[in-house]
Amino acid sequence: MSGQGSTEGIVIAIDGPSGSGKSSTSKGVAKARGLRYLDTGAMYRALTWWMLDNGVDVEDPAAVAAAVDRPVITMGTDPAAPTVSVDGRDVAAEIRGREVTASVSAVSAVPRARELLVAAQREAIDAARREGPGIVVEGRDITTVVAPDAPVKLFVTASAEARAQRRSKEIRTGDVAATRADLERRDRLDSSRAHSPLTLTSGTAELDTTGLDLDEVVALVVDLVDEAARAAATARA
Ligand code: DC
Repeated sequence: MSGQGSTEGIVIAIDGPSGSGKSSTSKGVAKARGLRYLDTGAMYRALTWWMLDNGVDVEDPAAVAAAVDRPVITMGTDPAAPTVSVDGRDVAAEIRGREVTASVSAVSAVPRARELLVAAQREAIDAARREGPGIVVEGRDITTVVAPDAPVKLFVTASAEARAQRRSKEIRTGDVAATRADLERRDRLDSSRAHSPLTLTSGTAELDTTGLDLDEVVALVVDLVDEAARAAATARA
């Protein structure tokens, strides 16, 4: 890898709203450079699934806060086959359901829930930094709170219409208008909450993926990653 710099131990932080393409992009970049992949949205969804499954009132922040440390959430970080389980049960399908999607913004607004999951996310990041091979982490507060020192920080966006089109395809519904209304409702909640809202801060590059296909976006981000790896190698030399 002479002159290229190594991506060993690199941390790539990617934030953005639903349907912006950040999950596919993050997985594509992790695969391209042999890195781990952590979907932090899946962690908030898994916690929400457990709350619903255990009859906790998700609209009651005190009830959610009192229960957050009961479930054991385990994430598999292979970008080719990421996994998510709660108390040993695979919940990959359940966490994408309607009920979880409708309740996840309420659960993720509870400070104690964020504290716990942010600590788990930082542990995964520290392990990948120390032991390699490095990691791509995606969510809403990765560039601002979880890993503000990451050498590559990106805010991925797309127009509301493009996001609704993509999301509708993913969840196989023809009702793009309803999907768009749901995305915009979650955007409002996720961007306006008191704790760790979704925001673009300085030091983070904005990447608008409207009109770009996935391969183009992945290629752009891989270039940024390689550039950061070269810069780090130069700084060490
Ligand atoms: O990325 P997603 O749509 O699967 O995320 C689900 C929800 O989790 C999203 O509405 C906001 C929340 N979330 C968060 O608050 N912080 C993160 N780092 C990731 C997701």
